[in-house]
Amino acid sequence: MEEARPSRTALRVALRRAAHQLYDARPLVLDDPIAVPILGDTYAEELRRTPMRPDRPFSVGLRAFLVARSRYAEDTLARAVAQGVTQYVLLGAGLDTFAHRNPYQQLRVFEVDHPATQQWKRELLEISGLPAPANLTYVPVDFERQSLSEQLHSAGFNPAVPTFFAWLGVVPYLTLAAFRSTINFIAAQSHGTGVVLDYSQPRSALPLLEKLAHDSLSARVQLAGEPFQLFFTPSEMASELTAFRDMEDIGSFEINARYFANRSDNLRMLGSAGRFLSVWL
Ligand SMILES: C[S@@+](CC[C@H](N)C(=O)[O-])C[C@H]1O[C@@H](n2cnc3c(N)ncnc32)[C@H](O)[C@@H]1O
Repeated sequence: MEEARPSRTALRVALRRAAHQLYDARPLVLDDPIAVPILGDTYAEELRRTPMRPDRPFSVGLRAFLVARSRYAEDTLARAVAQGVTQYVLLGAGLDTFAHRNPYQQLRVFEVDHPATQQWKRELLEISGLPAPANLTYVPVDFERQSLSEQLHSAGFNPAVPTFFAWLGVVPYLTLAAFRSTINFIAAQSHGTGVVLDYSQPRSALPLLEKLAHDSLSARVQLAGEPFQLFFTPSEMASELTAFRDMEDIGSFEINARYFANRSDNLRMLGSAGRFLSVWL
């Protein structure tokens, strides 16, 4: 990411979550009443255009991936909370709105993000007049330059209790060193800690049509100043996570069966590039 600029990919993801609320058939995969208000008047025109962009033929599949990703994180968080987790850390939170919809009174939420993105989010929240959630702490961190551990601890994070981490839409943008240092930090947390993340397979692992979709998306994020740098095959990812147990790693077949079966619209994931994963300590 560029040093002083908020993440543009975070805006694009948030626009798609908001478009899901407005344009997709019921039942929604991600029911998020804050997704539209957080964008306010500032991005209303962009939101109006979001689902109809003719230059984005893979748009529906990408929107499906993005809404299912947040839903998967929140479904897995619910399991973690039922098992006694009381801290939720969103790594690279972007415009995620969970903290504003948090149904768990005892759950403390830490939103970790690049300082420029976090500042922009806080400004958007102020403009839109949304009330500040009681259990939320903001933690500005640049994963490439700062210690996640130090910043979280100075924000009041408790390392003595199990925590659930969500790391959504961030891994492909990191260096391998930044990815590993964050995984090592999570692996050092208490028993019962869990993490959910998504990752993408390398171009070489994809069939031809998906290579073209990959090239188109790569070109767009590169233009946004946030180039993809990190891909894994499922077996490469598994070998990064040997410190964890109970891995679930699912691709579009399982995701479509779980979240998009029997819909009256054509919302569903396409292709095999993107995967969701959860692991536990
Ligand atoms: C595609 S957005 C995803 C945002 C959010 N997780 C979501 O699903 O809406 C990528 C996020 O990663 C964050 N990010 C990327 N590189 C980062 C870095 N080096 N340090 C901290 N955050 C970073 C960006 O600020 C942005 O919020």
